[in-house]
Amino acid sequence: MPRPLALAAALLALGLGLAPAPTSAQAQTPPDPNNWLLNAPDDTTRFRLLQGQASGFHVSMQIVGQRYQALYDAVADGNFDLAAYQWEKIRETIVAGYQRRPRRQANADKEFVQKVYEPVLAAFRARDAARARAAFGEARAACMACHEAERVAFMNDQPLFRRTAAWP
Ligand code: HEC
Repeated sequence: MPRPLALAAALLALGLGLAPAPTSAQAQTPPDPNNWLLNAPDDTTRFRLLQGQASGFHVSMQIVGQRYQALYDAVADGNFDLAAYQWEKIRETIVAGYQRRPRRQANADKEFVQKVYEPVLAAFRARDAARARAAFGEARAACMACHEAERVAFMNDQPLFRRTAAWP
């Protein structure tokens, strides 16, 4: 190639931002597959991946189920501070769940957040065993009412709800 042409080609390559060929060391290092977000081509793809990992309402419900069992144990033990704690976390988990699945919000607010949350919390804070047990019964009924409203009434027919229907 005559010299002026070679120079023009080099300037054109620079202007186009063409990267120099990778050195052999760079070419041999594949991207770390554990960087599943960093390796994504753009932020929209990354947000899609994050949404997928955050999952749906069922993940929140699994956590709620565990906390509900712990709540039952706390009330049975007369540990009202723990009961109030679990109750608060149950509400937070349900609300976080419907942030991800807004179609669940109307019934969750109607059957749970607005109907039973505050009175049940007040009952646990009152540190009275009979009142706390009655309040737990209201909580249980609210869970089951929302399952009916959301057309997953089959959720109510499992040991979690049978075990927590009465006290030891
Ligand atoms: C929006 C109203 C609503 C409220 C309030 C609610 N649930 Fe649910 N629950 C659902 C729905 C809907 C599902 C099915 C989840 C799905 O299909 O993604 C479910 C599923 C579940 C599951 C099964 C989760 C799994 O995937 O294994 C458990 C356990 C559960 N709920 C417990 C509870 C308990 C305990 C409470 C009360 C503290 C409660 N739920 C309150 C709507 C509700």
